[in-house]
Amino acid sequence: MSNNYAKLNRMKKFILAPSILSADFSNLAGQIKSVESAGVKWLHIDVMDGHFVPNITLGPAIINSIRKKTKLVFDTHLMIENPEKYLSDFVKAGSDCITFHLESSKNLKGLLSKAKKYGVKAGLSLKPKTPVAKLISYLKLLDIVLVMSVEPGFGGQGFIHSSLSRIKAIRKLIDKKNPGCLISVDGGINKNNIKSVLAVGADVVVAGNSVFKDSVQPAEAIRRLTSKI
Ligand code: DX5
Ligand code: ZN
Repeated sequence: MSNNYAKLNRMKKFILAPSILSADFSNLAGQIKSVESAGVKWLHIDVMDGHFVPNITLGPAIINSIRKKTKLVFDTHLMIENPEKYLSDFVKAGSDCITFHLESSKNLKGLLSKAKKYGVKAGLSLKPKTPVAKLISYLKLLDIVLVMSVEPGFGGQGFIHSSLSRIKAIRKLIDKKNPGCLISVDGGINKNNIKSVLAVGADVVVAGNSVFKDSVQPAEAIRRLTSKI
């Protein structure tokens, strides 16, 4: 497939993963229904422990509750220290894909193979300042690479522009070493930059504020976010 054709194909077929971090937590089931009605298939779930990142969000109990309300693919992003200790809890709670941070464990290969044994898809994420080369020895083991385009910890931050060249470099590596692996991009994505993120090689786009914190309902926000692609 020519490079341009592959690019066009990706732009048409990308996966949008709304991040519930920006949703109204008093009405999670309703917010999930709203994104489902817009045709969304994935839900991005940000787990933060107040140690790996300076914010605390949600844990397995909440994931378990929303699991009963939807069949969306649960894309769980673990921003926690000691992920080994909690992996099985997040699997049991109903995650379909679990992404660990490259910077969060000394035994990433063990973690990834354990996740696979539990029957979930497994990924690695890297913070904006972590060198792309650190991914290389893990690429063959991954279902997804989650490229952070903001410092992890909070929704609603501005997209770091240099992420585009990082995504491009990761696209090249993946095409060579593990073409089945997806590239997801997380942080600061809105209707003005989504097209460039897809053009450099993203397969999955995570969006929090631009879906849940717009002045319109999430379904309409999704329509606006994706209308210029
Ligand atoms: C940040 C989280 C992101 C965040 C994205 O640490 O990993 O998933 O919720 O939110 P926006 O799209 O608002 O930057
Ligand atoms: Zn995230």
